[in-house]
Amino acid sequence: MSDRVMSKHERFNFANVGELLDRAGELGVELPCSHDIGVLLEPLRLGRFRVPNRLVIHPMEGCDAEANGAPGDLTFRRYERFARGGAGLIWFEATAVTPDGRSGPRQLHLCDGTVSAFEQLADQVRRAAAEAFGVGHRPLLVLQLTHSGRYARPDGAPRPVIAQHNPFLDDRSSVLPDQPVVTDAELDRLKDVFLKAAGLAAAAGFDGVDVNACHGYLVSELLAAHTRTASAYGGSFENRARFLLDVIRRIKQELPQLLVTTRMNAWDGLSVPYGLGAGLDGGDENGLSEAVALLRELHALGCSMVNVSIGNPYHNPHLGRPHDSPIAGGGLPPEHPLVGVARLLGIAGRLQHAVPTLPIVGTGYSWLRQFFPPIAAGAIRAGSAGLIGVGRLAFAYPDFVKDLAEGGRLNPDKVCIACSGCSQIMRDGGRSGCIVRDRDVYVAEHRAGRRRARQRNR
Ligand SMILES: Cc1cc2nc3c(=O)[nH]c(=O)nc-3n(C[C@H](O)[C@H](O)[C@H](O)COP(=O)(O)O)c2cc1C
Repeated sequence: MSDRVMSKHERFNFANVGELLDRAGELGVELPCSHDIGVLLEPLRLGRFRVPNRLVIHPMEGCDAEANGAPGDLTFRRYERFARGGAGLIWFEATAVTPDGRSGPRQLHLCDGTVSAFEQLADQVRRAAAEAFGVGHRPLLVLQLTHSGRYARPDGAPRPVIAQHNPFLDDRSSVLPDQPVVTDAELDRLKDVFLKAAGLAAAAGFDGVDVNACHGYLVSELLAAHTRTASAYGGSFENRARFLLDVIRRIKQELPQLLVTTRMNAWDGLSVPYGLGAGLDGGDENGLSEAVALLRELHALGCSMVNVSIGNPYHNPHLGRPHDSPIAGGGLPPEHPLVGVARLLGIAGRLQHAVPTLPIVGTGYSWLRQFFPPIAAGAIRAGSAGLIGVGRLAFAYPDFVKDLAEGGRLNPDKVCIACSGCSQIMRDGGRSGCIVRDRDVYVAEHRAGRRRARQRNR
């Protein structure tokens, strides 16, 4: 085996998509590809909604809300840039449904006191999209509703709320061995809170809401709460899925005008009983059986698409966010990022083929940079995804859809370089964005965050 094949982690260095596919082949993974990228610009009907093209901006926390959780100036700036860029679906970032569920003092929080600011945000986004592309272009606006669970830091200090103890995660999320788990009665009440927030999102003008069940936050942790005993929300699959499905069922019943969806983890990258989806890498063919069962239930409840991710950004960030450089202290990823990209796309593909009539929003494309469109088009043409989402690439290059539609390709000087700068700012408690392509705003945030972290560690 050559040294090149041996080296697990390798920075992006490809002159064209052919070289990238060759490298994938050397690494023993497969990626779809179609040079006819037209399919990315085709509309898609989702129930009574129409998405003008297949390109989605994933939810990306900017950590720039006002103290009360209302969108701040940088929040407005970010979403206006997204709207002017032409994405068919703008998936607004994690927005807390309760103050104690905020991931930080700058996370968005939807409540009676902030709903009018969210309405202004949705209005501004629609206006900007129409100004840029005409009134016929109406991107779908979905708001991600969340409780940060074990990663709650409403006032900047850890205030974890846990569904179960987890030996892989407790230490790093400041969970003490005797911390009680959230009770069933508290979860019952929280279901009402999600329902209320969905009503506020509808009032603010969003087309849809996502009940966030990914990345180890509270509802995601409930899906994996195998060790939660004597509870209606733990143990069996039926119990673990209960919270998510109940909330979605109730939103559907009480707010029939809303599109309801979830961004869910198909696999946590943790072994059972501490994660959802066992043994994916251990060759267990049933690794995705619970994710498939969940998708079937969601489809039966009337979800018209689902966004799929994997992993936990605090524990195994390379799974959900293949990158070239880690955040400080993160360590190099234990695998070639292309292997990570192929895993993400492969999982979405397996799920999409298992539930072909429920469009899956795929994740994992930003690391591919300017070569992501042919890979994404290949995934759609192969029936391995219905829509394609990008996260970091949208921070770097908010007008990527416009460039693709106008010139048929992306500009390599505008793409994300997977440097983890945006994640670093977020971890350091700053306002997050791209330090490479949006330097004037975010380099200073990055420096200030690093300075604060150094002072804390002194
Ligand atoms: C700074 C930052 C903020 C994020 N915020 C969210 C979020 O609010 N909700 C969510 O589901 N995922 C969030 N993610 C994950 C992304 O949506 C996405 O899944 C991940 O970056 C991988 O996609 P990409 O390769 O296109 O960036 C965030 C990621 C980053 C780097």
